[in-house]
Amino acid sequence: MSSDTANSQQLPDRVTLVEMGARDGLQNQLEILSAGIRSELINRLARTGLKRIEAGSFVSPKAVPQMADSYKVFDLLHRQPGITYGALTPNLKGFEAALAAGADEVAVFASASEGFSQKNINCSIAESLHRFEPVVAAAKKHGLNVRGYVSCVMGCPYEGDIRPSAVAGVAEQLWQMGCYEISLGDTIGVGTPLNAKKVLEHTSRHIPVSALAAHFHNTYGQALANVLALLEEGLSVIDSSVAGLGGCPYAPGASGNLATEDVVYMLHGMGIKTGINMEELLKAATFICDQLGIPSRSNAGLALSRSSHPSR
Ligand code: HMG
Ligand code: MG
Repeated sequence: MSSDTANSQQLPDRVTLVEMGARDGLQNQLEILSAGIRSELINRLARTGLKRIEAGSFVSPKAVPQMADSYKVFDLLHRQPGITYGALTPNLKGFEAALAAGADEVAVFASASEGFSQKNINCSIAESLHRFEPVVAAAKKHGLNVRGYVSCVMGCPYEGDIRPSAVAGVAEQLWQMGCYEISLGDTIGVGTPLNAKKVLEHTSRHIPVSALAAHFHNTYGQALANVLALLEEGLSVIDSSVAGLGGCPYAPGASGNLATEDVVYMLHGMGIKTGINMEELLKAATFICDQLGIPSRSNAGLALSRSSHPSR
């Protein structure tokens, strides 16, 4: 099948993928992997052409044991020039640990829903934003960029529907605080394309679309459709996870993230560049699925591994 050239003026020529596999992908797995295997996954992902890789999180190991020892993961990386290795930091303690580990950038994570904020990070939205202020200030002092996440942008496991204006309000506060990019997270994967556009429309009243990213879980199979809807609105930074791994321990029922293989297949098929080599991506997917003893959740990954069809 030949690649169709993008025929819409609005579609970007190039999309940046932010790889979630080693963090969001592993944080909810039954199997707790060693730092050695986690860093090996990242080293393999670094060979694919991905330029932004979330490598771990500096959160309470009691809350998320899968992410314990993230400092060891950083220590074992074969760092490649031009790749940003990021880490999640919920508070100053996490930031200091991420800094000591050598994270290139950090991310704070808020929620558009009070219920999820309480379950996930044990505080209200307002308290979380208050906690993030010194993290952003310290990061700036050390020359590190801070990404901001807003979770539950199209639905919450505890509160149901979420208003786009609530999402925009939290996103704007993270932006005003100094986050350079805001990733809009459909944590439980319930959103559909027109809702996704609505969330983007509200949020982009406060933040340029060029500083927004989309983070879709694929629980209801809507992630690719949502991505396309937002590409049409000019968004060009997408979070995805190798083999479609993913989930959040505090988002019951949520399945994996949008699979990196699936979004790469779609983008390359539309003539949109990602800089990613599908063969290397498939190798990284096979490696991590073997380690976890689970099948890939990527349709493109499964199809390409079985077929003689040339990969994108
Ligand atoms: P807390 O209990 O309110 O915190 O938890 P605390 O300050 O009262 O401390 C309690 C204990 O945690 C203490 O230890 C602290 O030292 C320790 P103890 O005295 O009991 O032994 N602690 C820490 N340890 C390591 N690193 C730290 C840290 N901070 C405190 N940074 C806290 C608050 C945020 C720490 C906790 O709730 C937590 O770690 N939550 C983790 C939540 C998480 O990682 N969720 C998954 C990531 S978010 C996500 O997946 C969504 C996203 O993908 C986007 C989307 O899909 O929408 C990003
Ligand atoms: Mg997530």
